Amino acid sequence: MGILDGKVALVTGAGRGIGREHALMMASEGAKVVVNDLGGDTSGAGADTTPAQEVVAEIEAMGGEAVVNGGNVAKFDEAGAMIQQAVDTFGDINIVVNNAGILRDRMLFSMSEDDWDAVIAVHLKGTYAPSHHAAKYWREKAKAGEDVYGRIINTASPSGIYGNVGQTNYGAAKAGIASFSVIAAQELVKYGVTVNCLAPTAWSRMTADLMGGDAAPEGLAEKISPRWIAVITTWLASPEAHNVTGRVFDIRGDQLGIAEGWHLGPVATQTDDPGDLGPVVAELMSKARLNANMGGVDHEGPGFPGRSI
Ligand code: NAI
Repeated sequence: MGILDGKVALVTGAGRGIGREHALMMASEGAKVVVNDLGGDTSGAGADTTPAQEVVAEIEAMGGEAVVNGGNVAKFDEAGAMIQQAVDTFGDINIVVNNAGILRDRMLFSMSEDDWDAVIAVHLKGTYAPSHHAAKYWREKAKAGEDVYGRIINTASPSGIYGNVGQTNYGAAKAGIASFSVIAAQELVKYGVTVNCLAPTAWSRMTADLMGGDAAPEGLAEKISPRWIAVITTWLASPEAHNVTGRVFDIRGDQLGIAEGWHLGPVATQTDDPGDLGPVVAELMSKARLNANMGGVDHEGPGFPGRSI
């Protein structure tokens, strides 16, 4: 018996990296999987269904059931077709893992409109579109008096929720995905559907070079294997996780944490005159918690936005 026996999952961007591990682990726990992957390069150029086909073959070799989907998550109708393919092939859709992603890192002054639009489309619209079609399906099922089992698991990033230089496009999309998850969780709770979000750190083609490539410390690739991201994802998709929703999990190897959302910090009374506001803001700044660094902890360095510089 697996913890996902009888469940049907869609994993986007499942041909490689983290998505591949999600698909393999969920299949090993009994889920039937639609393995979506457009198969382009890290910047989003090109298309090739070979990686998705290989993952489907791996699942079938272990005795599981899976099908290839080569659609683009950023295209509304293609996202709808992914949900429909799950229903037509396996009779239902229960789990949607929005994982597909690309990178176009640039400093703000060098970032082209295309770099902005492409990253926002794949991540932000590519999370909304499959989620929308699945949520619509679940709501219609609930209205028809049928049982609904629904899980959405989205993928943010430490870059989005904490902030990383060179990634205004990617970070804005990822922070948006974290907020999207919190709000969608509130909207879908009455249907028994949970929505959670991951902020992973893992060795993949997207990050290997950024982490040192061949010169990376020995054992790092294994220590932060993308397999670790699949463990919490598979659990969140399971029946035991029915009461966990609206959370963002920060995962680094075997370290599993919860990233806490924005909260109102210290408050003060504004002065009428902006010329008198300086001391009020200075006091607030001295009381407020610092912004986090990429480790997710208070950024103590000098000149960091969020403290007096
Ligand atoms: P990856 O590059 O190995 O895998 C991403 C997959 O998404 C690729 O197979 C690609 O073909 C697919 N894809 C890209 N655009 C697509 C589209 N429009 N439609 C369908 N599929 C598409 O990268 P990795 O590292 O596995 O990333 C997975 C997710 O995790 C991404 O959302 C990424 O931003 C996120 N992430 C990864 C981190 C890491 O440390 N590896 C850190 C933070 C976030």
